Amino acid sequence: MKIKSIRQIKSLKGKRVFLRLDLNVHIRRNEVVEMHKLRMALPIIDYLLKKEARIIIASHLGRPKGKKDDKYSMEPVVRALENLLKTKIKFSKQIIGKAVIKKSKTLKNKEIMILENLRFESGEKDNSVDFAKSLSDLADIYINDAFAVSHRAQSSVDKIKKYLPSYAGFLLEKEINNLSLAFKPKKPFLAVIGGAKISTKVKLLENLSKSANKILIGGALANTLLLAKGNEVGKSLVDKDSLSWSKKFIKQKEVKEKILLPSDFLVENSKKEVVMKKIKDVNKTDKIYDIGPDTILEFSREIKKAQTLIWNGPLGMFEKKKFKQGTMSIARSLALQSKKEAVCIVGGGETVEALSALDYKEYINWISTGGGAMLSFLAKEDMPGLKGLIK
Ligand code: 3PG
Repeated sequence: MKIKSIRQIKSLKGKRVFLRLDLNVHIRRNEVVEMHKLRMALPIIDYLLKKEARIIIASHLGRPKGKKDDKYSMEPVVRALENLLKTKIKFSKQIIGKAVIKKSKTLKNKEIMILENLRFESGEKDNSVDFAKSLSDLADIYINDAFAVSHRAQSSVDKIKKYLPSYAGFLLEKEINNLSLAFKPKKPFLAVIGGAKISTKVKLLENLSKSANKILIGGALANTLLLAKGNEVGKSLVDKDSLSWSKKFIKQKEVKEKILLPSDFLVENSKKEVVMKKIKDVNKTDKIYDIGPDTILEFSREIKKAQTLIWNGPLGMFEKKKFKQGTMSIARSLALQSKKEAVCIVGGGETVEALSALDYKEYINWISTGGGAMLSFLAKEDMPGLKGLIK
């Protein structure tokens, strides 16, 4: 895979660089609470500072509806990035227009300006040509270092490339190189897939059913597949829209051989008690919230045999303390196998959050900044943000 890298630009000195980052992070009480994406953005910013560029950073945050919404302002992100970089950063509330063009032109070399949330303008999500053109007026060069949003057809990752010489940043390059390891995996190749919605993982599951040796399933994804197989899952969360696809999928011979579904769970019963149950004992009023100890053992045994591992999506409702055991145990098994011998690639917002509490996370080879983008890339879907930047 050939990447049009920022390193190919001979001189960046004095150039206005539009740096598209994915700074879509969790904010609680006006503070950034998960720093992974911010830290991963530091190498490209440091590089541009060293090369004496003038830096215009742009990102989306959350899903505002195409108009200003203070809840989604970039201001807390600006402060967090200032702390990490130990540099003053300018903040522009205007995203496009004469005033911000002027600000971009008066930026000095090695100065940074961050624009307000791109999704405050409806043109961003509409992939509007006019909006892309207006963004391009702010810069001489465009860098995409926002892998995590590169699966979206949105102006600042897609259409803007028409109007500026465009290159990939370091993080984009690293994401591509690391995630591509899953295309030529050392065998046995094992995937752990959890989370709530099958619909976002259909293509990946179809691909994995061909390339992987084993697929371990947890979370509401497992509930849906168990229901599709005719099991009782009570009042547990299921992805109803994907039920008919699930029924066809789970019937295939190849799939049956490769997919491993949980055999026991932590469930909340009708009296709101948390109890352990085998799948055959789950009744109409139960709610499944986590995988049980037998499943943890069985999954960990499989993980210990693997040479390549990928993981996306929690295996239970890990945000609640009493249901985090399954996800954390599997995270630990993955990290330990990665420490021993396997290549391990992990991604997805909640998955990364689960990992941040784990001691051995440094053994994991790659923690992707992408959730949906990681799934798209691994499913070999066309990604608008990568178009023209990789061949
Ligand atoms: C993410 O966090 O996965 C990316 O920033 C994409 O966000 P989106 O799903 O709101 O487009």
